[in-house]
Amino acid sequence: MDALVQQAFEQAFPGEDFSFVRVLPATDPKFGDFQCNDALKLAKKLKLPPRAIAEKVAALLPLKVEVAGPGFLNITVTGDWLEGRLSEMCADAHLGVEQCGKGRKVVIDYSSPNAAKQMHIGHIRSTVIGSAIDRIFRALGYDVIADNHLGDWGTQFGILIKGYRECLNDSERENLTVANLEKCYVLSAAKAKESEDWKDECRRELVKLQQGDEENLGLWKRFIDISIGEFERMYAKLGVKFDTYRGESFYNPMMPGIVSRLEEMGLAKESEGALIVDLSDEGLGVAIVRKSDGGYNYTTSDLACVKSRVEEYNPERIIYVTDDRQQLHFKQFFNIAAKMGYTGVQLVHVPFGLMSYQGKAISTREGNLIKLDDLLAESVKRCLATLSERGNADEALAEQIGYGAVKYADLSHDPATAIDFNWDKALALDGNSGPYLQYAYARVCSLMDKAGEDPEAVSAAGFATESNSEKQLALQLLKFPSVVRRAAEAYKPSVLAEYLYATCQLYSSFYQNSPILKSEAELRSRRLNLCRLFGKILKAGLALLGIETPSHI
Ligand code: ARG
Repeated sequence: MDALVQQAFEQAFPGEDFSFVRVLPATDPKFGDFQCNDALKLAKKLKLPPRAIAEKVAALLPLKVEVAGPGFLNITVTGDWLEGRLSEMCADAHLGVEQCGKGRKVVIDYSSPNAAKQMHIGHIRSTVIGSAIDRIFRALGYDVIADNHLGDWGTQFGILIKGYRECLNDSERENLTVANLEKCYVLSAAKAKESEDWKDECRRELVKLQQGDEENLGLWKRFIDISIGEFERMYAKLGVKFDTYRGESFYNPMMPGIVSRLEEMGLAKESEGALIVDLSDEGLGVAIVRKSDGGYNYTTSDLACVKSRVEEYNPERIIYVTDDRQQLHFKQFFNIAAKMGYTGVQLVHVPFGLMSYQGKAISTREGNLIKLDDLLAESVKRCLATLSERGNADEALAEQIGYGAVKYADLSHDPATAIDFNWDKALALDGNSGPYLQYAYARVCSLMDKAGEDPEAVSAAGFATESNSEKQLALQLLKFPSVVRRAAEAYKPSVLAEYLYATCQLYSSFYQNSPILKSEAELRSRRLNLCRLFGKILKAGLALLGIETPSHI
């Protein structure tokens, strides 16, 4: 609606910027459906009385418009206009979602777990939020490169190699799993704390690895392959796919080059044996780019990564999805990257808050460092139990609902906030939950079954828009394209989740107020079409959140 009124303003007064113009819901239904008060703001600029401005705009709007008071536009949406928009939306392969990303490239860096560790519940946010942002950008036509920036290089590999050789038995070494790797890491790290000799050995293994020792490199490669295999098992459950798995190791050879460039540009200087970039004047502290032992760190590898991504893909944007404890790191390296001349690419950090579990902080010490695998299995188990009670013990369906519930529990919150994972809320059938939305979709399918009609094929009968609840639902459905766009602009899948939930509530009230199957033939068809379009949008919206829509629950 904003865009429509903005267009009318532009047509009436060419050459001016009207992007600030907003349309609000009418304060009183007797004035219509919407109002716009912005003609008043323009009087000075356009040197015209506001009423004259409003009248000129009103004449250009394809809606019923009245100019009231000093120059308010009172807008009433007509049934014909609504039906026309709904038909256009339905006929469009993208449901009206503007392909504003055509020909534009973005890299999205998400999930990015550290190798040789099992994914736990703390990893779910980057994976699920990143994947939803990825899908939303693709829906807008962007050319997306989903990159998993694995933590696959660093001191932990010295500890792991030593631990692998001495803390595991033959069979554990032969049937190496991520769980075993984690175990030998814990044992070896504990020994390194107790004994200087062990610590030195670990360091020596690391140096050998860094110098390309064949045996250590072979072990490292095996650890990474096993880790990726395990991560992919989780990604398959979550419906997450990456275009590349470029871990930190990939950028390792480029580190010396980055550091010399920083030195040449006068950006880095020695400090107590380390090489640093001092950003304290800008309130960003100090970033170490080479440690006193000669090793490189996270900042250096992320700078090398920007360089590589710019050279290889030349994206207009790189989006990083990580927890909010890394905010300073991102501010620092974005700042340094800009000074190095990477100004043609927009670097965006999407920080998310921590997740607690059933009201308790997640920590190893509390013993509730729940594995992602276990969380997903528990969700499926609980869904299966509910389905069985209803005599429908369908395992595949329980997975669709169980995984959807876990994802939605995360995505329905603004990423920036800390969240608590709670089973009752995640699985509630009557609240703002994944199962509730999936159930709403299944209800549309069963309605179509009862009607003996195809759930997707919209008939030529048009759409019911006469009653208030029909009109409200129709107006809400028309917002889908702008919601998808807003979710992308804000990097918040929660914008879409909120919209879908509100849409389901409007659907419910329409459904309760309007007999469908029992109404006379034409109205019945028009109401069924409105239900169909609701179903289509709900399905498309949930798909963008990575949530499946089974047709029967
Ligand atoms: N591996 C890091 C972690 O586990 C996340 C990496 C994010 N991506 C990046 N380019 N820094 O927190």
